[in-house]
Amino acid sequence: MVCIVIALGGSLLRPEVDNRHTWLEELIIIIRDRVSAGDRIGLVIGGGAPAREGIDLARPLIDDVHHLDKIGIAATRLNATIVREVLSDAGVSVSGTIPRRVDEAVQLLESRPVVVMGGTTPGHTTDAVAIRFAIAASANRCIIATNVAKVYSEDPRNNPNANAFDKLTHDELQDIVGPDKHTIAGRSSVVGPVGVGEANRANMALNILDGRETNLIKAALEGNDFQGTIIFTERV
Ligand code: UTP
Repeated sequence: MVCIVIALGGSLLRPEVDNRHTWLEELIIIIRDRVSAGDRIGLVIGGGAPAREGIDLARPLIDDVHHLDKIGIAATRLNATIVREVLSDAGVSVSGTIPRRVDEAVQLLESRPVVVMGGTTPGHTTDAVAIRFAIAASANRCIIATNVAKVYSEDPRNNPNANAFDKLTHDELQDIVGPDKHTIAGRSSVVGPVGVGEANRANMALNILDGRETNLIKAALEGNDFQGTIIFTERV
């Protein structure tokens, strides 16, 4: 049996993906097929547009980053609710509630093949939640479905000559995303730096890919080659 946790960046859902209904339909079919094959899947959904919009509205009035984080968490739970309801309506055996804690999610995954959740507590992003979920559930790997093709040496929007990587170690990824700290609510990096620190300590393999391409999510779930970046560290 394969257990995989996927962090689905909120930007995939709303509103940047063209044809987002087709995207969501394809995702549901992929999850349904993997459940039929016997996999267990945790889905952790990011905040995307509603998180950014809500945090931007409140930011000039709120100094405490943790208070802004709570707005982001509410948006992730809204997005998780959308995904949970769509899966449930499609007949997928998904847990009935959106857990608020990782240990609760792990417990739910023992009785249902699919668990959907959003954020938990202030101080990190949903990537860290997904990585913690993957570690706590002893998952085979954690897929980070974001909106860039690979991890780059720098943001390719700022430097078109940035290098793209097929493979990196956890340390190399941490150097790229920055120190294992959460400083700004609603700030997006290819993978949340707090999550990278956790993955490094637990040696959890990460598959980072462009989630707008559902065939990449499918390939990574099935353990096939995919376009993206693999993060692993060989420990002796
Ligand atoms: P996201 O996980 O969507 O973060 O949570 P992100 O990396 O900024 O955005 P994506 O990956 O492009 O979708 C949105 C915000 O909610 C708060 C953080 O402020 C985060 O930036 N949050 C989320 C938490 O504080 N704790 C959580 O567990 C999840």
